[in-house]
Amino acid sequence: MSDPKKLFIKTYGCQMNVYDSERMGSALVAGGYVEVDSPEHADLVILNTCHIREKAAEKVYSDLGRLRPLRQAKAAAGGRMTIAVAGCVAQAEGAEIVRRQPLVDLVVGPQAYHRLPAMVARNADTGVAEVDTEFPEEDKFDHLPEAPRARRAPAAFLTVQEGCDKFCAFCVVPYTRGSEVSRPAAKVLAEARALVARGVVEITLLGQNVNAYHGAGPDGEWGLARLIRELARIEGLERLRYTTSHPNDMADDLIAAHGDEPKLMPYLHLPVQAGSDRVLKAMNRRHTVESYLRVIERVRATRPDIAISGDFITGFPGETEADFQATLALVREVRYASAYSFRYSPRPGTPAATAEQVPEEEKADRLARLQALLSEQQAEFQAACIGRTLSVLIEKPGRHPGQMAGRSPYLQAVHLDCDPGLTGRIVAAEITSAGPNSLAGRQIGA
Ligand code: SAH
Ligand code: SF4
Ligand code: F3S
Repeated sequence: MSDPKKLFIKTYGCQMNVYDSERMGSALVAGGYVEVDSPEHADLVILNTCHIREKAAEKVYSDLGRLRPLRQAKAAAGGRMTIAVAGCVAQAEGAEIVRRQPLVDLVVGPQAYHRLPAMVARNADTGVAEVDTEFPEEDKFDHLPEAPRARRAPAAFLTVQEGCDKFCAFCVVPYTRGSEVSRPAAKVLAEARALVARGVVEITLLGQNVNAYHGAGPDGEWGLARLIRELARIEGLERLRYTTSHPNDMADDLIAAHGDEPKLMPYLHLPVQAGSDRVLKAMNRRHTVESYLRVIERVRATRPDIAISGDFITGFPGETEADFQATLALVREVRYASAYSFRYSPRPGTPAATAEQVPEEEKADRLARLQALLSEQQAEFQAACIGRTLSVLIEKPGRHPGQMAGRSPYLQAVHLDCDPGLTGRIVAAEITSAGPNSLAGRQIGA
């Protein structure tokens, strides 16, 4: 018997790509590959790419360039390295990728992953590059079998919804992931049970617009709140999260679930992008500052300690200093526990890309000022945890011997000394100190 073929996957971008990479990896492992953690000597390299900002997309081409000598070395040794570009750059650029970088053998969009094994086989036969960026009718996840792997890490992602119909003026997602599709509830529940059977205790439900979930259920359509409540009944599943949400889809029953579903963690990632109604309108966000703040207020009324996180863009076309000041004012009002912020990056094919641009220095200067304020708020949230007792899901060894790392209900990294045998268990920890990105604590009780 020959050695199994080696597979290397590199993942860029969002959690949905992380999930997709896991599913592609499992399917290929079930087909005889072994996953390795370096592209050297790999028979198949998959770059699972992101197109959200220019930097992310360009990184792919520099990484492809670095694969050239590895591929040549493999060929010199009588082997062949097949190179596949998957993900959102694949969807957005298609065959253009092969023209720009002839090293690439396969280009496969996010909805065509189940066709990857057949594409690899055809390409091995013909040597001709394969491109598949279709949005087929069938559900790719039905055709991506999970490899019967041993135990899983205690926290896992589960995609329940994909695509987006919102068309924010800056965003490529509706083009790269297509229109909004929800997976049927029964499939989500079955996958969650299978994860729990393999040791998973925390599941993060994923979707580009996850709170717009409207999957087919046994008794009609289910929203996200209903799905969460049914998932919460699975014994052994202790924690549920979901991301990313749109402010307009925070339904009443979802807000209510934050108040009375103990397994739903007190953390909400709710991007706002900007704090000026004029800019929000130009962004086609379809919500106002006021409506966003009202959602936050209602969520906090049901779950006062909830950690709020957000996404921001600085320097969207037309944004003035006064608009930007309004963003700072919104941040001061909300008080974020954590946040992601970016300078606006014009993306080909999106409406805002052709509008008159804010100068780069201005975008960068606003971003720096925004990030200074957000860091201050994050530090305050972290510091406020000192002295509290938090439940921590132990996930993996920490940096120092004897130390383990886990997550608090608020998604903070927590380091504490404890028995490595507690991996996958939730322990009570008294928080003793706080850094900008993690907490340290002491285990309480056994
Ligand atoms: N579905 C999510 C997030 C999608 S992308 C939502 O609706 O919010 C993640 C974040 O990237 C966005 O929230 C936005 O802040 C940022 N982003 C998207 N397009 C961008 C662009 N062209 N330039 C800069 N940041 C962008
Ligand atoms: Fe992009 Fe999110 Fe807007 Fe959809 S709602 S277009 S994913 S930013
Ligand atoms: Fe990037 Fe696509 Fe996710 S563009 S952020 S990988 S949906």
